[in-house]
Amino acid sequence: MSAQQVISQFQATGAETCFHGRHINPQIYADLNGSNWSLQDYVARGGYQALRKILGQDGGEGLTQDQVIATVKESSLRGRGGAGFPTGLKWSFMPRQFPGQKYLVCNSDEGEPGTCKDRDILVYNPHIVIEGMAIAAYAMGISVGYNYIHGEIFEAYERFEAALEEARAAGHLGDNIYGSNFSFQLHAHHGFGAYICGEETALLESLEGKKGQPRYKPPFPASFGLYGKPTTINNTETFAAVPWIIRNGGQAYLECGKPNNGGTKIFSVSGDVERPGNYEVPMGTPFSTLLELAGGVRSGRQLKAVIPGGSSSPVLPAAVMMACTLDYDSIAKAGSMLGSGAIIVMDDSRCMVESLLRLSYFYMHESCGQCTPCREGTGWLWRLVDRIYRGEGKPADMNLLDNVAENIMGRTICALGDAAAMPVRAMIKHFRPEFERMIKVDASASQAA
Ligand SMILES: Cc1cc2nc3c(=O)[nH]c(=O)nc-3n(C[C@H](O)[C@H](O)[C@H](O)COP(=O)(O)O)c2cc1C
Ligand code: SF4
Repeated sequence: MSAQQVISQFQATGAETCFHGRHINPQIYADLNGSNWSLQDYVARGGYQALRKILGQDGGEGLTQDQVIATVKESSLRGRGGAGFPTGLKWSFMPRQFPGQKYLVCNSDEGEPGTCKDRDILVYNPHIVIEGMAIAAYAMGISVGYNYIHGEIFEAYERFEAALEEARAAGHLGDNIYGSNFSFQLHAHHGFGAYICGEETALLESLEGKKGQPRYKPPFPASFGLYGKPTTINNTETFAAVPWIIRNGGQAYLECGKPNNGGTKIFSVSGDVERPGNYEVPMGTPFSTLLELAGGVRSGRQLKAVIPGGSSSPVLPAAVMMACTLDYDSIAKAGSMLGSGAIIVMDDSRCMVESLLRLSYFYMHESCGQCTPCREGTGWLWRLVDRIYRGEGKPADMNLLDNVAENIMGRTICALGDAAAMPVRAMIKHFRPEFERMIKVDASASQAA
């Protein structure tokens, strides 16, 4: 298969959205219909009450910075961008007493294949992100923030800009918000569609106007972030979860999910299901329930495998996935990652060699090229899978594939290298006979000829 043929298969299949009644206890997508995104609508849904609450504008005493951070810690909110890092803990790393400028950044780059949840938040409920960021900025003593929005979803950028204008005009952003001492200026910035710019330090480089390439860590953004200043960066959905937590309390959020995995999570369900789309359900919901909400496997076919957390997470066979609940711990125990929550469902008609071919092409294409194991290794992976798929595989290729993947993992500046290697190793682990069959059948066919 040529590179162009592979690329042509990456084209989006259509707009799947969050407008359906098949969420369970939604908090972020609750009561959205596609046209009620404005400030007026958001306020009617209880919007900006949480910001008023912490600033003591609701008749109460307000919350201190420490109280806000403690509430977020208590909620067990974990970052929705992929790694699941505890949000309250991350906020506590910000050196609040730093005398110079500090920055808050929202990661709306959303480029992980299968993930389409953040764009629905930005387009249909943008003020929830603005309010969440304002609360975070207050908690960490930050006065300037940016939302970096994926360049290929320009509609989301335009909608967010419109919402920012509304929020500024109504005094939810700007100097001395609601007459308090707290000031926060928030700006939107669009990228140009590079997957690597979702990696937090590449994003910061890009935001500074440079080539979007990851930085060495440490130092981490909390000490050396945007323009070298202390910076906290969180995913769009992470910020969107915050207003509910402040309004209802950390314990209430925790109880919506399960211990160590608080609240609800949005899952982008794609692939071989009857009703692909974004589904918001409590953490800890059985995968089988989500599959049912999504209408089950398409055309009554059998479930073969699931990629549970975006294309970089290891694939799991049907039986393993059906026994999982949807939370960071359950999926990790099963040998994969909840990641961004993009669930790619594969039925029994899917060829795993072909699936891996597409994934490998993607990572080769998106490698920024800084480190040799990733730049060269992703190309090796793709070429090996490609030759197996074309019927020119050799028996030694299976071990070679595993070996190349193993030599990328843990040897690169950023996690894209691991993201390219993990799907390969998981495919070999769970579906090796399928690859071997293709090599064997094709080898004997060429001998016969
Ligand atoms: C290659 C790569 C791409 C990433 N893409 C995204 C992305 O599109 N959106 C995102 O929020 N995080 C992405 N991340 C994770 C971010 O680096 C970072 O961990 C995240 O924004 C932190 O936010 P959170 O703590 O709220 O999850 C990516 C990481 C890597 C290695
Ligand atoms: S791992 Fe890949 S994408 Fe990440 S810095 Fe190295 S070459 Fe760039």
